[in-house]
Amino acid sequence: NKGKYEHYMQKEIHEQPESLTTTMRGRLIHGGSSKAKTVLLGGLKDHLKTIRRSRRMVFIGCGTSYNAALAARPILEELSGIPVTLEIASDLLDRQGPIYREDTVAFVSQSGETADTLNALNYALENGALCVGITNTVGSAIARKTHCGVHINAGSEIGVASTKAYTSQIVAMTMLALAIGSDSISSEARRESIVDGLVDLPSKVREVLKLDNEMKDLAKLLIAEQSLLVFGRGYNYATALEGALKVKEVALMHSEGILAGEMKHGPLALVDENLPIFVIATHDSCFSKQQSVIQQLHARKGRLIVMCSKEDAASMMNVGKYVRVIKVPHVEDCLQPVINIVPLQLLAYHLTVLRGHNVDQPRNLAKSVTTE
Ligand code: UD1
Ligand code: BG6
Repeated sequence: NKGKYEHYMQKEIHEQPESLTTTMRGRLIHGGSSKAKTVLLGGLKDHLKTIRRSRRMVFIGCGTSYNAALAARPILEELSGIPVTLEIASDLLDRQGPIYREDTVAFVSQSGETADTLNALNYALENGALCVGITNTVGSAIARKTHCGVHINAGSEIGVASTKAYTSQIVAMTMLALAIGSDSISSEARRESIVDGLVDLPSKVREVLKLDNEMKDLAKLLIAEQSLLVFGRGYNYATALEGALKVKEVALMHSEGILAGEMKHGPLALVDENLPIFVIATHDSCFSKQQSVIQQLHARKGRLIVMCSKEDAASMMNVGKYVRVIKVPHVEDCLQPVINIVPLQLLAYHLTVLRGHNVDQPRNLAKSVTTE
């Protein structure tokens, strides 16, 4: 049931304040003066000790689910102190990459049925690793076969392009990071501010959704373009990849997510006065580096669309001329990807409608890919 919406993708983008609320429901311990602010993940509490003892954590997924793990990696590394590596499921299988008994391997999947992810799970089980599921579908193959896990509880997702599952996956993995790190005193203040950030997150998502009309206007400007580059780094490298994936899969426009730190190693050659470039430059520890990227793109006359924190918008205008400046609410750095993807989801949605393509069932794609 699409309710007041025309498409499932539109409905699912707009219901993110609610889906994020259900992802966190009953899992945040917050308030009550004597109690520390922390998380409780029922499915993991008996396994946290084993996870903390693991030599490495490996996160495996495909498509958007891989991007969600990429978005959560910095906070997983920071709070666990354990090396975190990422694997696209098919690539791990192609290489038969090493997985050890001492590894914790997490399988990220909305459907819980993706063939490559499921095959990678079987492979990790054979190799004796502790297998953890991050899934949206209760009773799915991945939820059943993993040793333990977290249901993201985003509600069923119908649009082939994943939107609300992505933000709920990031939040679930951030809660996983908080749970793993919960025995460390030195990171307590950091963890508490993340819990506060999680509590506020649905209202901040509601705020960023007000950019809907602005993103529709931007889509009108970009309607006839051949290509869109999306630059991000740090916490928002994943936002660049996921934003570009949305544009590519539904609007059927070539789009590429680029790690800004790699700009000089190739992508800079593409920059001219015609190609639109979306730069994510919200306020975090990478901000000054991202400002210098913007200056260098300006120097090459790039057509820039810049996403920045509301507080930085005025200073941003001093740096140069832009096609658009998209102002988003500022949240805790590790939660910023949840905010920043929303305008890009809206842009992809409007571009698709304006270009006359099928939003909910893009050409050649399936919601759940159950063959290799
Ligand atoms: C569980 C109940 C929830 C109830 C809550 C009350 C289910 C599905 N969830 O939620 O309805 O409100 O207790 O305390 O009945 N698991 C995997 N792999 C996965 C995902 C989950 O093995 O990919 C396992 C977990 O380890 C756990 C079980 O499935 O044993 C349920 O997981 P989850 O729903 O995340 O647990 P709770 O949040 O505790
Ligand atoms: C398909 C979907 O390609 O599978 C994507 O169209 C999704 O939206 C990908 O990200 C992985 O699916 P899942 O269910 O394993 O998260």
